Amino acid sequence: MAKVVIENVKKYFGNVKALDGINLSIEEGLFVVLLGPSGCGKTTLMRCISGLENLTEGKIFFDDEDMTNVPPKDRNVAMVFQSYAVWPHMRVKDNIAYPLKLKKVPKKEIEERVKWVSELLHISELLDRFPAQLSGGQRQRVAVARAIVHRPKVLLMDEPLSNLDALLRVKMRSELKKLHEQVRVTTIYVTHDQIEAMTMGDKIAVMKAGKIVQYGTPEEIYKRPRTIFVAGFVGSPQMNFLQMKVLSSGTEIYAENFGVKISLKKDPNLESITMGVRPEHIKLEKTERSVQITGTVYFVEKLMSETIVHLSISSEKNLVVKIPYDLLVREGEKMKVYIDFEQVHFFNPLTEERIDL
Ligand SMILES: Nc1ncnc2c1ncn2[C@@H]1O[C@H](COP(=O)(O)OP(=O)(O)OP(=O)(O)O)[C@@H](O)[C@H]1O
Ligand SMILES: [Mg+2]
Repeated sequence: MAKVVIENVKKYFGNVKALDGINLSIEEGLFVVLLGPSGCGKTTLMRCISGLENLTEGKIFFDDEDMTNVPPKDRNVAMVFQSYAVWPHMRVKDNIAYPLKLKKVPKKEIEERVKWVSELLHISELLDRFPAQLSGGQRQRVAVARAIVHRPKVLLMDEPLSNLDALLRVKMRSELKKLHEQVRVTTIYVTHDQIEAMTMGDKIAVMKAGKIVQYGTPEEIYKRPRTIFVAGFVGSPQMNFLQMKVLSSGTEIYAENFGVKISLKKDPNLESITMGVRPEHIKLEKTERSVQITGTVYFVEKLMSETIVHLSISSEKNLVVKIPYDLLVREGEKMKVYIDFEQVHFFNPLTEERIDL
């Protein structure tokens, strides 16, 4: 395993700036998730790390070794893609052994390593089958086994679970995480599924338009999103954003709108600020740390574990609130809810960056 350092990496395809100055330093042995919307450059970054793409600018290091111009086969990187790229004409055991054969590893050692990795991935009983005789999840496990059998320095996985059904995804999610705990290879994992990102990543790098907008632990990303984009991208249902006027009376500075008034500890020096509130931080009971907000129930979504209420708080603003499932709420009725003001986020509406108030 190796530390991966990405230094000012740019990758342009003609006018398209797929990567627009990426800086990232990934600690050795970490499981890092690249999270971002379609087209933001995730796959391109993976391909640059593996050496499949040449950089337009910048450098890539593994530990302190400059890899920028090293061909893919000499980087000791393994990659697993969304479509399980296993050879259809080879039995599972030959598929897994293939990278070792290429490296001319002695036969005895190949046998030992195939045994080791197939036990790790629970596919020992499938070794004599052909890929066509496997389920999607089993095939993906073979692809992962083949990727890690030669103990790569860096493991890259690009949406490896997106072809699997929902149940299998959840199962593979925990299996891949367990596997990582056992082999501790530095892993970069691409997904646009935020639940995958939050549950699997030691750290998450959130990407937008060829740039990394925040790199931190799942907790940091959730609790202290650096921009409106990160705040809105992570969390389900999405964070509510309310435009608030900044006002003062005497020495008190406060944010006000929608019948809500929240004291600010500092003066943001702005006429208005964007306040972010997650649906799970709006409660039905009043507490010492909450402010009341009233609205009319516009729409109710009953999920099995909770109910999502869209509360109309002005002619053009709905507040999304998460409440317990068994609570009866009818569309059209008035409803009082309480925003936990210790859990709100503030952003500069012009730069969209977080401000701590
Ligand atoms: N070979 C290429 N030639 C031209 N443009 C490309 C090429 N590869 C990628 N791009 C462009 O670069 C940008 C980033 O693409 P990339 O595949 O890295 O996105 P992504 O984040 O992996 O998206 P997705 O989540 O849909 O897989 C996109 O605008 C894409 O159209
Ligand atoms: Mg992609």
